[in-house]
Amino acid sequence: MVDDRQAAAPRDRAPGGLLTSEGLLIFFPAAPATNRHQFLSRSLNRPANIMTPISFASSAEPRHHPDCCMAISQPLLHNLANILPRGPAISVLSIGSGTGLLESLLLQMLEDSYDICGVEVSPAVNKYLPEQNMFFVGGTWDLCPQAGKSHVWIFTYPREPKLIVKYLELHDHASLSKIIWLGPKMDWQDYEGVFASSRFSLTVLEDCGAATYEMVVVAEPQVNGP
Ligand SMILES: C[S@@+](CC[C@H](N)C(=O)[O-])C[C@H]1O[C@@H](n2cnc3c(N)ncnc32)[C@H](O)[C@@H]1O
Repeated sequence: MVDDRQAAAPRDRAPGGLLTSEGLLIFFPAAPATNRHQFLSRSLNRPANIMTPISFASSAEPRHHPDCCMAISQPLLHNLANILPRGPAISVLSIGSGTGLLESLLLQMLEDSYDICGVEVSPAVNKYLPEQNMFFVGGTWDLCPQAGKSHVWIFTYPREPKLIVKYLELHDHASLSKIIWLGPKMDWQDYEGVFASSRFSLTVLEDCGAATYEMVVVAEPQVNGP
């Protein structure tokens, strides 16, 4: 049987770049990396003056990369890595992973005991996550059953609060220990209520390396919760 995350996997892709007045600022990989080591070595082989995606992982200040809605910084990546649960095999699912840039940078920081996968509607949008780390759904209304086995869900700049509601209704499970929401502060009011009747309590991550207009919220099971 064909694994559904490989069935519609992206193949070769033309390299892309962003030309600015100062020269080539950003360069995208020519093809999706097949593992984290390939991704890293591609990035390290570039000339020093080119800002590769990996350079964003070492930036002290949040910087906006065109392949990710959330501004990326080293402190943000470290804080995200630090709040992940510890264990021998931690499964993290980023729902609506887009290009997978943030997820692939996290993947490279973490030990092999972490499996970070993305979910997207179309295989065409993924650029950075290895194909074996991708799942695809039939449309924006659709849910990925892998959520029912993942320890952590990540939603970065989700478009629709109802999607989280549906995931909580259908795929919440005892081993789900964190839901991480990343997005613009002005959007959070639309999402806070999503968790109101859930078994999760919310913590806003302060000084987490996000841009001033963005925030990270962590939902964890309430200690004495339902
Ligand atoms: C605003 S983009 C954010 C992408 C990425 N997380 C980022 O921060 O750059 C929202 C993404 O969610 C995806 N999406 C929408 N509905 C989805 C669903 N039901 N399952 C998985 N992805 C979905 C869209 O295709 C889109 O790529």
